[in-house]
Amino acid sequence: MDAKPLKPLWRVTLTHPPGWEESLLWHFREAGFEAAVAEQTFPAGLLEGEGGQVGADPEIVVVTEEQEVSRLRALTETVAKAFEWPQGSWRIQVERRQEQDWEALWRKRWKAFRCGNLVVHAEFHDPRNFPTRDRDQPLCLKAGSAFGTGGHASTRLALKVLQRWCRNRPPADLIDLGTGSGILAVAAAVLGVPKVAGMDPDPQSPAQAQETAALNRVAQRCRFWRGTLESAGGRWQAVMANLHSDLVRDHAADFHRLLAPGGRLFVGGILDRKAEGTFLGLKRSDLRLEWTSSRGRWVAGALVKQ
Ligand SMILES: C[S@@+](CC[C@H](N)C(=O)[O-])C[C@H]1O[C@@H](n2cnc3c(N)ncnc32)[C@H](O)[C@@H]1O
Repeated sequence: MDAKPLKPLWRVTLTHPPGWEESLLWHFREAGFEAAVAEQTFPAGLLEGEGGQVGADPEIVVVTEEQEVSRLRALTETVAKAFEWPQGSWRIQVERRQEQDWEALWRKRWKAFRCGNLVVHAEFHDPRNFPTRDRDQPLCLKAGSAFGTGGHASTRLALKVLQRWCRNRPPADLIDLGTGSGILAVAAAVLGVPKVAGMDPDPQSPAQAQETAALNRVAQRCRFWRGTLESAGGRWQAVMANLHSDLVRDHAADFHRLLAPGGRLFVGGILDRKAEGTFLGLKRSDLRLEWTSSRGRWVAGALVKQ
């Protein structure tokens, strides 16, 4: 029997200003494109071939069909305008490829990396092959399309804060608003939080997060559902809100409602130009700002309910 002919596909490489990988991936997926971060541009802190290519222009790759290329181009132009990328700071290259590139691309994209003592890797990696240190804790991620590979600056800032909160006495419970892949919720459980919940409107999120919890043997302590943050109830010792500036600004009252007295709040995904207004709004809601930090254009903060 003749082998099925391979469908020709187009590999679209978008070179863009640093710091936008995960936001771009999210926008592309929302528009129905699956995208991968090109291998050489995965963030610093890599375990395999540590160091990476410092200074290389970040690229993301989409493999798609011919008729979709112009839609992808138009989407990129819209996103570039919305993100205010300077002229000449991005470009698109289109090449014809074969179908089987796709799976290989996904696998190449997943490079394990370190964030504090967490060694974040994909399910198809064997952590025994990594150059780990004494106090390292592996965090295994289920590959999928929900937001949260750990590549985004805000997720890294959130993982750092979580590790600080859990160092001595982990909070008794934690809710992760906009959990995406479940990376922060599962990290919290791995770090010792006994009761963890997370939700996200993304239909892919709950199953992917639950599988990630199972891979890390913390499924009994985690619960995920599909919904917006308004669907969350109860009072929590810790609330993670790695969302984006406008959501954080608009939901200060929800954060207050969900926090137990003295509870801790992480907010992330805040664009630098929106940080001042966002934190001002949170402070007005009786939340005391304890810490802020930034990576590239992204700002995060930790607050306490008075
Ligand atoms: C920046 S991503 C964070 C994902 C993951 N928690 C991380 O830290 O990498 C923001 C997430 O918020 C979700 N989201 C958007 N609107 C939301 C809402 N109203 N309530 C809860 N989550 C929302 C998105 O689907 C997305 O997965």
